[in-house]
Amino acid sequence: MKNDFDFIAPFYDHITQIIFGDTLSESQKWLINQLKKDTEVLIIGGGTGKSFEGVKKDFSITYLEKSNKMINLAKRRLSNAKVQFLCKDFFQWETGLKYDAVVLPFFLDCFDDRHLNVAIEKCKTLLKKEGRLLVADFDRKKTNPILNLSMHLFFSVFSNLESKRLKDIHENILKNGFLSEDEEFSHRGMIFSRVYGNP
Ligand SMILES: C[S@@+](CC[C@H](N)C(=O)[O-])C[C@H]1O[C@@H](n2cnc3c(N)ncnc32)[C@H](O)[C@@H]1O
Repeated sequence: MKNDFDFIAPFYDHITQIIFGDTLSESQKWLINQLKKDTEVLIIGGGTGKSFEGVKKDFSITYLEKSNKMINLAKRRLSNAKVQFLCKDFFQWETGLKYDAVVLPFFLDCFDDRHLNVAIEKCKTLLKKEGRLLVADFDRKKTNPILNLSMHLFFSVFSNLESKRLKDIHENILKNGFLSEDEEFSHRGMIFSRVYGNP
């Protein structure tokens, strides 16, 4: 199975902490700070939930994550929040619900070009009219090619990562008609956190 994070789940936070420090977590916390009170939020691929620890009950969160191991870790961390956990593959999951915000925290970097665009298109259908897409991920142009290669090599061995290289995620989101509303950068521009308006 592609993108199987079960094996790496217990070590994931330690590995990212060693390589990036708090940067990945901070970039996801920034997204959470952009959420409006009393809204319906869908988080896809939230992993162990480390970045969402301490999130208040101000939002109603649906936490969709394919890895059973990741979701079990997240359940312990988000015990104080109003969260519905769904252990599902995003591409297989069907719902009639619409959300005020869809959060993609280092999720889109897992996929090849085709799935990247399928995921963005699917998010569009999940958003309410005024809904927003919130994305934290790597900027391909600002990421050191050796780091890019090493990350892909590591996760292709331990998680059977589908992606073979970083793609221009921002460009693909804009191509799908979203409009960039707010953004923040960290790690010398390598990591972006952005809020996009629904087309
Ligand atoms: C690179 S990790 C990021 C985890 C977390 N957001 C973080 O930064 O610490 C990607 C996450 O997406 C999840 N994932 C990958 N493909 C998925 C899919 N098709 N449906 C749902 N979750 C998926 C993985 O299980 C993993 O937890």
